[in-house]
Parts: sequence; structure tokens; C-alpha cells
Amino acid sequence: MKKILVIGATGQIGSELTTELRARYGNNNVVAGYIPSAPLTEALAESGPSAIADVTDAKQIAEIVDKHQIDTVYNLAALLSAVGEKKPLLAWHIQIDGVLNLLEIAKEKNCAVFTPSSIGAFGNSSPKDNTPQDTIQRPQTIYGISKVTTELLSDYYFHKYGVDTRSVRFPGLISYVTPPGGGTTDYAVDIYYSAVKGEKFVCPLQAGTFMDMMYMPDALNACVQLMEADPSKLIHRNAFNIAAMSFDPEMIAAEVKKLVPDFQMEYQIDELRQKIANSWPNSLDDSCAREEWGWKPQYDLTSMSQDMIEKLKIKFGIK
Ligand code: SER
Repeated sequence: MKKILVIGATGQIGSELTTELRARYGNNNVVAGYIPSAPLTEALAESGPSAIADVTDAKQIAEIVDKHQIDTVYNLAALLSAVGEKKPLLAWHIQIDGVLNLLEIAKEKNCAVFTPSSIGAFGNSSPKDNTPQDTIQRPQTIYGISKVTTELLSDYYFHKYGVDTRSVRFPGLISYVTPPGGGTTDYAVDIYYSAVKGEKFVCPLQAGTFMDMMYMPDALNACVQLMEADPSKLIHRNAFNIAAMSFDPEMIAAEVKKLVPDFQMEYQIDELRQKIANSWPNSLDDSCAREEWGWKPQYDLTSMSQDMIEKLKIKFGIK
């Protein structure tokens, strides 16, 4: 049985991944690692073990690994792209120094490590459509720079020391559970919240801005499926392109309007986010993930929109 530590267990991905991993591997086998400024929810605190786990504190992480005999770490600690641009040194500290701490611990204590990468690991000089698995990666954001570095470091620790590092490049992730904060793709979450609350949505990105997106259940499956994959089949490791859907603000707004006919949207462009979005791919080619470990998403824009609206109505008690 695996013994897992989730670092960033209270964040956008971590909050749901921790619950999913507990359901799969047993509550007591998954430690929810969090920092005091992002405290545990009651549900996470009560359903299994937890620990303060600041990825920038190597001693603290090593102690948790020893105490709970951890063999697998999901490291989800990160500042997203737009907030990273406002705090680049902190983004570097968490996403580079933190990852290096973790890889050193993994080398010593024989842990597998999953630290996600992102569509943000590409930049203006990468091919925009059907962006290949192996291509030019010269991102312009500190977020992207940290993700490329994480990919390279993770591969380095695999090839040099045999650390079992694996990862995916996540698209924008959409969920009704824990909201994201400070990302460029967040508008595709916020739009559903506005629609369900009956508010006009102010879209920060221009019509025609295409990016890859994914519904959270597919993202959670990707993490678990990749970490469970037969290592002899993995030609790539850090990090696999995965894709589910690509859309622009007009397409998601049209889908929302089908479900909430009164829905209205206006544009008020956020220059920083627009610049970041323009530098990212329109859509990724995920054929390596499909071939090497059987990646296959379940949700498209229509089925995701139906589920989001339904679940948010329940969340806010709206008929
Ligand atoms: N969702 C992230 C962001 O927008 C990208 O991985 O920053």
C-alpha cells in the first residue's frame, strides 16, 4: 500500500486530490500537507492525517516523510501565473528551491514525486496549435520558467539518481470545489460562478483567446493514472502534454447561455493576463500521454458545463 504526502493539500488541485487519494488508498495512508496561511478544511482535517508541510522547509518535509514512512509525494505548492508575476522571487523560492528540496529528500528516502507542469511551460516561440510533446519551451513568465526548470530537474533526478519522477502539463483546470487564485485560466471557472449567481460576467480575456482546459475529475485521474502507470512503457516522464478541450471566451459563454439563458458577459481586458494567455498554446498534442499510459479524458465543454452549473446550483442552494 502506498503512503502518500500531498504538499499543498488545501489548494485548488490538492483539496480534491487528497480526497480522491484517500478514497483510493485508504484515509490513513494519505497525509494532507498544508501551510498555516491556507488552513485545512474540516473535511480534510477529520478524514485522515495531516501535517504542516512548507515545501521551502526541507527539514520539515524530511521529518514528515520519516514519521509517516512516505513513499510518494504529490507536490502541488505553487503560485499561479498572474500572481507569480507580482511576486517573482517568492514564485522562484516555492517552485524551484522547494522542488529541489523535495527531489533531494526523494533521492535520499526513495520516494516517487509528482510535481505538475503546465501549458505555461510554453511561450511565444512554441508552436501554437497542436503543440508537440517535445518542442521549443522559452516561456516569458516566472511561472513558466519555474515549470520548465521543474521538468528538467525532475528528469535529471530520474536519469542521474533513479528517482521515480513523473508529471503532466496541466491545462487550465475547472472545478466547483476550491476556487483557483491568480491564474490566467481562472476566468473559465469564474464565468460559471457569475452565471449561477445571476451576475453579469466581466471577462478579462479577449474573444478569440484559445487555451486548453480540463474538468477537475479528468485532472485527478491523470495524476493517479500516471503514477500507477507501468514504468517500462514511459518514454517520457516530465512532463506529459495532456488535453481535454480548447475554447475561447465566446465558446464557453455560448455554452453557459444554453444552460442559463439570461447569462450576460462583457469584456474588460486585463493586460497582464492577456499577454500571458497570448504566449501560451491554443491547444496541445497529447498523443504521447495517450500512447504511453492510456490517457483519455471523459469531459468535453458541453458535459463539463452541465455538471458545473448543476453542482454550483447545489453549492449555493439555487433552484
Ligand atoms: N492555470 C494556470 C494559470 O493560469 C496554468 O497552469 O496560471
